Amino acid sequence: MSVEHEKQLATEAAAELIEDGMTVGLGTGSTVAYLLPALARRALSLRCVATSPRTEEAALMLDLPVEPFGSIDRFDIAIDGADQVAPDGWLVKGGGAAHTREKIVAAASDRFVVIADSSKRVTALRPPVPLELLEFGLAATMRLLHSVSLRNAPRSPDGGAIADYQGAVDDLAGVAALLGAIPGAVEHGLFPPALVADVFVARGDSVEHHNHAKSRA
Ligand code: 5RP
Repeated sequence: MSVEHEKQLATEAAAELIEDGMTVGLGTGSTVAYLLPALARRALSLRCVATSPRTEEAALMLDLPVEPFGSIDRFDIAIDGADQVAPDGWLVKGGGAAHTREKIVAAASDRFVVIADSSKRVTALRPPVPLELLEFGLAATMRLLHSVSLRNAPRSPDGGAIADYQGAVDDLAGVAALLGAIPGAVEHGLFPPALVADVFVARGDSVEHHNHAKSRA
């Protein structure tokens, strides 16, 4: 079964959670690309915010109502892909360099839902962990960071340089705290389980749904 088929299945299962009248955060990436038509087909009345210009453009092409992240201060739900999904709900995100906006939207969401094909399911997270770095003082920030290389990628929509942490990630909370404490490091791509409510991972023709919020309750 193809990865594209799995992306579509996971997305369709997650899209069922979206109800009329909801505020919705739209993630970024090739998996989210399946979410947009699935939502458009349902013709619901929604207020959507996109986590990247490419998602915004694709959503608007489908007549989904996208607005700037200004007046909305929380979302009923946000749906997004991931680069790696660990069994306990830790994620690596930012392969598409959108992790800063994605994390802001996830943190503002009552229910942050992850959609993934089976290649994203890992037994333990591994490097690289994406980073976004402020342009101001970039060389000085790089000097403070160890095992980090700048990615040959365009600046983020917010002007940040994209880099990757290549060091060990055995202690996820420790690495997240370390990367989060560097002035000039705007955001890293480690998403803790506390941010994640649901994970839909498709394998072949079936979709595995893990509700982390329920397991925490
Ligand atoms: C973008 C992301 C994406 O969600 C992640 O890279 C997965 O992308 P895809 O669905 O294309 O595999 O974090 O910053």
